[in-house]
Amino acid sequence: MWDLFFDAVWFILPAYVANSAAIDVSAIPFLKKYSTPIDFRHNIFGKRILGDGKTWRGLFGGVIAGTLIGLLQLSIQPYLGESLPQMTVKLAFLLSFGALIGDMTASFVKRQTGFDRGASVPGLDQLDYIVGAFVFALLAVPFDLTRFLIVVVLTIPLHVLANYVAYKIKLKEVWW
Ligand code: CTP
Ligand code: MG
Repeated sequence: MWDLFFDAVWFILPAYVANSAAIDVSAIPFLKKYSTPIDFRHNIFGKRILGDGKTWRGLFGGVIAGTLIGLLQLSIQPYLGESLPQMTVKLAFLLSFGALIGDMTASFVKRQTGFDRGASVPGLDQLDYIVGAFVFALLAVPFDLTRFLIVVVLTIPLHVLANYVAYKIKLKEVWW
């Protein structure tokens, strides 16, 4: 049982870090000026493509942070026994990039359906990046349904808690 839990956490860690880093880097003062939206403020079908909440800074910061965590994981992996899934730089990159693509996909859907930037869509907001990470990870490892379900179950409360902490320390303007 614990093995499955550690397997899931170990696997998804780069995606978690990528998603949180995309938020956290927005609090770094000298990065403020790099808040160019990924969609360059363009519209599609009369609506913003992604919105101001999806920036190049967040995308690069997230992918770099997630990939670095993967590098750290694979360097300590030999000391942690053999039950954990093997982390690789390629997998960490795919999980990080996939997470942010998933997050952007959700923003696109939110904009098209009329939700403003930052509006909460429970479920979508918590799972967008997990689904994106698992989809992109398929380019490196086979899909593991048990792992996916454990990550989903873990992520919902974790996300709520993390957002609340980010709000409390004023990284986010809303608690969700
Ligand atoms: N962020 C960013 N670039 C990204 C993802 C996130 O700069 N690619 C930063 C933005 O400051 C964003 C914050 O992290 O406001 C929180 O991310 P998220 O909740 O995903 O964005 P929202 O502002 O809620 O926008 P949306 O409604 O599009 O999800
Ligand atoms: Mg949001």
